Amino acid sequence: MLRAKIVGTGSYAPERIMTNHDLAKMVETSHDWIMSRTGIAERRVAASDQSTSDLCAEAARGAFEMSGIKAEEIDLIIAATVTPDYHLPAMACVIQKKLGAVNAASMDVVAACAGFIHGLSIAQAYIATGTYKKIMVFGAEVLSTITNYQDRNTCVLFGDGAGVAILVPSEDESGILSTYLKSDGTLDELLYIPGGGTEMPFGRNGDQDSTLRCIHMRGNEIYKHAVRSMGDASMRVIKEAGLETEQISLFVPHQANMRIIQAVAKRLGMPMEKVFLNLEKYGNTSAASVPLALDEAVRQGRIKSGDYVLSAAFGGGLTWGAAVIRW
Ligand SMILES: CC(C)(COP(=O)(O)OP(=O)(O)OC[C@H]1O[C@@H](n2cnc3c(N)ncnc32)[C@H](O)[C@@H]1OP(=O)(O)O)[C@@H](O)C(=O)NCCC(=O)NCCS
Repeated sequence: MLRAKIVGTGSYAPERIMTNHDLAKMVETSHDWIMSRTGIAERRVAASDQSTSDLCAEAARGAFEMSGIKAEEIDLIIAATVTPDYHLPAMACVIQKKLGAVNAASMDVVAACAGFIHGLSIAQAYIATGTYKKIMVFGAEVLSTITNYQDRNTCVLFGDGAGVAILVPSEDESGILSTYLKSDGTLDELLYIPGGGTEMPFGRNGDQDSTLRCIHMRGNEIYKHAVRSMGDASMRVIKEAGLETEQISLFVPHQANMRIIQAVAKRLGMPMEKVFLNLEKYGNTSAASVPLALDEAVRQGRIKSGDYVLSAAFGGGLTWGAAVIRW
């Protein structure tokens, strides 16, 4: 079976910074509360003329440069997002247009914060069967468009960004060694957007409260599931890769909350020095979180050839998953 290998990564975060102090002017909160409960100091917010696919196009530059692969060579684009440019067409098609990736097929994946891990798993499966050879997996969000800036329970957490990985068949020992995906749809209402879909369409019943288009979350319950599921998924992929936790060089978790990450690391028996963190700067960027962190880790030299890298994510759905990659 062919293995998929990451040969290029890229990321982009919008220029505008929203600090905890900025948020404290909008809702009853404080920098100290947000830092102590989440580890987030600031997040990025897209400009009003920046769509999610614009962020992806910026992120793609770095990945093309690193891999030496050109847009026309790409044969599949997978875009993980819950904030696509349109309901129709898929954001991956818009990305295709912006990149000039004329030879690609394009599809979106909706698995919230676990979307990028889902994309990696799909890419791995297509490469293993020989169906596609050069695949781009994006994770990108403009969550600021679905965040209620009057709800202190959620608005302190989320930010905007994009990340991407280019995958090709591996010719050596490197590549994705194992992936695991899981969902529990019975817990859909712990983290969801109630309005705007067919369950509660806008327009049909007259004007509706615009906050129904925003993220609704039961933070405490999400927290418990996040720790349990990311820990469980991580242990499964480490075992399936035939490794012990000590052999993992770097853990790149979904950057949701510092306390969640610390609890998962503790569950795995992994020292925090081996955990890559950038949530202080970006907050939770959902599907963008893992590829943004992965790209920064690569560019900072935290990931080297031969390293075993673990990634795990968790999000609305509920969905969760993990992967072990030999770099
Ligand atoms: C949201 C979260 C930070 C809240 O932290 P917590 O320690 O669980 O806090 P609680 O929900 O118990 O709330 C404690 C109090 O703080 C208040 N509070 C909530 N947000 C606040 C804020 N931004 N500033 C100040 N106070 C806040 C609550 O209203 C509550 O007050 P009350 O006791 O008077 O009702 C935490 O639950 C969390 O991170 N959950 C996971 C969320 C997540 O990662 N979601 C995305 C998954 S992909």
